Amino acid sequence: MSWRITMMAIASAVACTTATFALAADGVRSLAHTAGIHFGTAVNVEALGDAPYSRLLAREFDLVTPENAMKFSVIQPERGRFDFTQADALVAFAEAHAMQVNGHVLVWDQQLPDWLTQGHFSSDELKAILREHIQTVVARYRGRVASWDVAAEAVGEDGKPRETFWSRGIGPDYLALAFRWAHESDPQARLRYNDYGGEGAGAKSDGIYTLVADLRTHRVPIDAVGLQMHVSLNDAPRAEDVRINMKRLAALGLQTDITEMDVMLSMPASRAALRKQAVLYGAMLQACLAVPQCRSFSTWGATDRYSWIPEFFPGQDAALLFDADGRAKPAYYSVRRLLQHAGRGKAGRP
Ligand code: G3I
Repeated sequence: MSWRITMMAIASAVACTTATFALAADGVRSLAHTAGIHFGTAVNVEALGDAPYSRLLAREFDLVTPENAMKFSVIQPERGRFDFTQADALVAFAEAHAMQVNGHVLVWDQQLPDWLTQGHFSSDELKAILREHIQTVVARYRGRVASWDVAAEAVGEDGKPRETFWSRGIGPDYLALAFRWAHESDPQARLRYNDYGGEGAGAKSDGIYTLVADLRTHRVPIDAVGLQMHVSLNDAPRAEDVRINMKRLAALGLQTDITEMDVMLSMPASRAALRKQAVLYGAMLQACLAVPQCRSFSTWGATDRYSWIPEFFPGQDAALLFDADGRAKPAYYSVRRLLQHAGRGKAGRP
């Protein structure tokens, strides 16, 4: 089915479904399963006590990523003191609902504790600290966390490696070391490099390609690239470019995932904006479904009640598939219809 016809199909699906379908008991997770991909979301672990939220998570998603619960400052707030309270709660929730867990994130330039960033550690000390952190965390969840975002956001907008706390402190090989340490601690876990703004074509996408190709050349145990997909109606890659990018990464032997999709809208969001949002979600899901090596599609949050967008982008919101009251939005129906279709035409995916 050509791209243009697909887009038109998505647009018409959006236009007709919003009013008619009551929310089906079986969420999209079962449709995604039939279509051959995982359907995921970031989870605000502190909100798991919100019963309607937890029910929606369990009904709709079969893959969860902790929004903040496994980040360095949360897991190791003091040197050598590890706090797995939130991380354990997420893994237990996932296991109770037959969901896969994607660990996020072992090496990142943000949410680092003060004891670390103000410790003035030598390169060897930082290596020892990072190794202990990675191996303690990965070993704890060996066999329970299916995949890890080992590293994130290490490439700049110009496609060159970004200067980060870790590259300054350890040197450019911190990424390769991190992947090797994670692999040592759980050889079965799927290890991923995750970034934003390089999902389609362009300097950053080429920079990420060069980075992961180099890791592969040096036999670093990297399995996948995560395409975050934090977009808006006026700032999003072309779906065709995303598909082509996924294909070239597949040619390197790498799987891909859409890991953190959200489509922020200027508030108040109009019906037309919600329809355009639905078309964009549909187009990116379709890009993933068109590439067998694209293994999962995740949004960065399930409902607009728990979204990072309004705090970081005042005036923007309504970025997710469900509104703040857990009601499905046109984007949800667009995704649902595409997965139903993909499931029927499963021949397309291995
Ligand atoms: O936990 C503290 C709380 O104790 C304190 O009272 C409160 C007020 O300052 O802050 C809380 O920490 C906040 C944390 O989220 C947990 O809610 C941090 O201030 C806030 O900066 C942090 O924001 C997170 C952000 O990453 C940090 O950069 C967002 O929730 C999270 O959605 C966002 O996620 C990232 C991915 O990890 C990587 N890709 C991009 C994505 C969006 O930036």
